[in-house]
Amino acid sequence: MTPMPGPLPNSLQIDPKGRLKHLLSIEGLGHDLLTQILDNTESFTELNEQGVKKVPLLRGKTVVNLFFEPSTRTRTTFELAAKRLSADVMNLNLNASSTTKGETLLDTLHNLEAMQCDLFIVRHAEAGAAHFIARHVAPCVAVINAGDGRHAHPTQALLDTFTIRRHKGDLDQLSIAIVGDILHSRVARSDIHAFNILNTGEVRVIAPRTLLSIGIEELGVKVFHDMESGLKGVDIIIMLRLQRERMQGAFIPSEHEYFSRYGLTPERLALAAPNALVMHPGPANRGVEIASAVADGPQSVILKQVTYGLAVRMAVMTLIMGTHSESMP
Ligand code: NCD
Repeated sequence: MTPMPGPLPNSLQIDPKGRLKHLLSIEGLGHDLLTQILDNTESFTELNEQGVKKVPLLRGKTVVNLFFEPSTRTRTTFELAAKRLSADVMNLNLNASSTTKGETLLDTLHNLEAMQCDLFIVRHAEAGAAHFIARHVAPCVAVINAGDGRHAHPTQALLDTFTIRRHKGDLDQLSIAIVGDILHSRVARSDIHAFNILNTGEVRVIAPRTLLSIGIEELGVKVFHDMESGLKGVDIIIMLRLQRERMQGAFIPSEHEYFSRYGLTPERLALAAPNALVMHPGPANRGVEIASAVADGPQSVILKQVTYGLAVRMAVMTLIMGTHSESMP
């Protein structure tokens, strides 16, 4: 398994004046900056509900989606976010282009810089890839990490936090459970960091021992190995997919067995607080980690997460490019 990058200098993503240069991980963002992104997201959520959804905040800027790993939801929401801000957008599927012809990653980057691109959105299977790129790009280019290995997925954590705040208010009184393949999940890691920064009442993780990272308790979470005790009274349930592309070997006996022990069914959902929210970063595997009746049920906000994900990405892009204006609705 790819080792996790060690502690990264926060000066890479925050400039000496405290402004966001790149968004690489949630760690080090601090309460005020995180809250500012969530507040700015509110205005983009309103904009996206209007008839005309386009604003000129990134007009004249070029955004490049550099995706080295397959993605549908994240790539399309970044693309749409950039288009709604009037940026020009290029989508590069790098598995299929220059890297297979032997060009190095740095050569690819320098070619894009030579075309005066402004913002790179990076998804890569290796932990630390977005940091590497941020370290090597020209000073006028910004980088947003759209998921690096099992390390970080900061915009997913921001949209999860926004979803919770919108539906339940401040997080300090809430109990949140993250369920499933914690070991391979960049979403779980980034979520936990965001929840800690916002002083969440309680964060639980529920998983079989084989799918938990060693030392996860050091992040301040309570560990449970069974759904019946772990879900009791929680306000928010975040379900995770089994991330098979990052597994080498057998981590669970079978999907059927996994669903019988860790699947979120209506009966198990009833153990949580009344009106608890059900969340999932997608793609959701019905009948493996979640029953269809729950995924499509009244407590599910899975599609709302997609809606808010678009607004969060607009908020992050404008903050990084220094173009978020007070004149937003
Ligand atoms: C997540 C990811 O890619 O880490 N999905 C996403 O961003 N929509 C979670 C996952 O793939 O399971």
